[in-house]
Amino acid sequence: MNSIISLKNITKFYQNGNVKNTVLNNFSVEFFHNCFSIIAGPSGSGKSTLLNILATLDIPGSGEYYFKNQLLDFRNKKELVNVRKKHFGFVFQSFNLIPVLTSIENVELPLTLSNFKYNERRKKAEEALILVGLKDKLNSRPGQLSGGEQQRVAIARAIVGNPEIVFADEPTANLDRENAVKIINLMEELNNLQLTNFIIASHDDKVIKKGKEIIWIENQ
Ligand SMILES: Nc1ncnc2c1ncn2[C@@H]1O[C@H](COP(=O)(O)OP(=O)(O)OP(=O)(O)O)[C@@H](O)[C@H]1O
Ligand SMILES: [Mg+2]
Repeated sequence: MNSIISLKNITKFYQNGNVKNTVLNNFSVEFFHNCFSIIAGPSGSGKSTLLNILATLDIPGSGEYYFKNQLLDFRNKKELVNVRKKHFGFVFQSFNLIPVLTSIENVELPLTLSNFKYNERRKKAEEALILVGLKDKLNSRPGQLSGGEQQRVAIARAIVGNPEIVFADEPTANLDRENAVKIINLMEELNNLQLTNFIIASHDDKVIKKGKEIIWIENQ
């Protein structure tokens, strides 16, 4: 099996005055191609902390991070940004769409940063929105969309650059039951169809039961 990310002996703690809160203690985990992995555990157990480290948005106190068997150097910010830009997409609990931009403008935004030409950007953004079932909402602004639809736009934005891995932190937490099920089904479909790897932090049972792999973390 092809390894995409391997964390070895990761430690992460927060210092609050004299109190040391160890969130991850010598934690190791490995993810392989075509994963649909759920990081689960009680509130405060470190799901977001682990996801942020995997997404290179945060760095651990100690331990090693291998991306496709290559050791990442946490001190090399440029290398981290490159890996993130080239290979990762993100979905957040609160959608994080830009209110004044339409669906298609929100989705094409990451491509603007990667110097794609206007027509190419538009085409890719439209394709991504069609893939998530929003063909009719290309020109709607977030305020004109339901929560479920906004999360679909966010998923389209995450996959538009064809990333290898999509990281999602509690993607269903702001959705009602019906929309939560639709969103997790959509992610599962993209995993099957496009072979996009998904690593999802969630304490939602509807999400956890869909995991091909479940990484349980407890308070350490
Ligand atoms: N920036 C920070 N400074 C200090 N402590 C922090 C910081 N971020 C997180 N923590 C602490 O680390 C622990 C893990 O937090 P984390 O957000 O990873 O948990 P979680 O499993 O995602 O919880 P939830 O299910 O509520 O989202 C908590 O005890 C939290 O208080
Ligand atoms: Mg969290």
